Amino acid sequence: MTKYAKIISSGSYLPEKILTNKELENIVDTTDEWITERTGIKERRISSKNETSVDMAYNASIEAINKSDINKDDIGAIFLATCTPERKFPSTAVLLQNKLDIKNAFSFDINAACTGFVYALDVAKKYIETGQIKYALVVGTEKITSLLDWNDRNTCVLFGDGSGAMIIGASDSPGIMSSTIGSDGSYKDLLTVNTDLDYIEMKGSDVFKTAVNTLGKLAKHTLEINNLSQDKLDWLVPHQANERIILAIAKKINLPKEKIIITVNKHGNTSAASIPLAFDTANSKNTFKPGEIIMLEAFGAGFTWGSILLKY
Ligand code: ACO
Repeated sequence: MTKYAKIISSGSYLPEKILTNKELENIVDTTDEWITERTGIKERRISSKNETSVDMAYNASIEAINKSDINKDDIGAIFLATCTPERKFPSTAVLLQNKLDIKNAFSFDINAACTGFVYALDVAKKYIETGQIKYALVVGTEKITSLLDWNDRNTCVLFGDGSGAMIIGASDSPGIMSSTIGSDGSYKDLLTVNTDLDYIEMKGSDVFKTAVNTLGKLAKHTLEINNLSQDKLDWLVPHQANERIILAIAKKINLPKEKIIITVNKHGNTSAASIPLAFDTANSKNTFKPGEIIMLEAFGAGFTWGSILLKY
């Protein structure tokens, strides 16, 4: 029988410290009104000085493992998406494996910026469908505020830290129905962290336009390849960069706001952590029912993009 990859459980972690828009008014030349109106963001979390992307991933992963009925030694692979690794090497995935004391897995990092978690799920899907592994721990984790120039109001108001994780397992029924990923490196300079500067530089409005166009087409394509009309979609769990981007994409597929999971107001843009964080925020309130159809989609630096359609 065909094996599918299915979400077994999810977990997430947010650092304690909340930074509100009001507090940002004391740091850069901005206002709560501007940030709320242009992005939908009201607050974001900031990790403590010594808290790393591995520490946050550990907390999210423990929650996902505890919510599943598997033993951690059943995990055959850890696929970890981040662009803020704790070390240049070894990988954040290997550091996480060590902290979790998981013995029977291979582990590696995936860097596709904000699309990283969708890429990681794509990889997990393939390893599980081929039967090579039975369970994967898939993680998105970012200490993205460590890459911010706190004098640049164009970027520092947008981002936040956090981590999200999922246990993905083999199943006889779907599961992940489709996965589409893409990239185009010719956009490399529109959103980047150059190694000599070490902070985020972004041409915001160019990123905005390309994100809406690309994700609008991708959402339609994802429905088409699954022979699904938009009314059959129960939930959209998009990358949380900007509420205006999310709503513009939803409009392109006529999806009402009630079917969209939006957490950008509370989390800001947590890059590769944003989708699993949003997913777990909803999942921990039992929002998703068995059999419901959920679309995940993301866009990030590169540019990179990707979508997953799954039956919960
Ligand atoms: N407070 C007040 N004013 C501001 C701020 C701020 N924080 N930031 C910018 N402005 C000003 C600008 O200076 C500009 O002023 P000017 O007209 O006098 O020059 C004005 O606001 C308008 O700027 P725009 O860039 O045109 O504003 P826009 O409506 O495009 O919103 C934003 C900016 C929020 C950055 C938006 O473009 C956006 O969300 N872009 C996409 C970001 C994104 O999706 N990133 C995704 C991937 S992230 C990853 O991969 C790691």
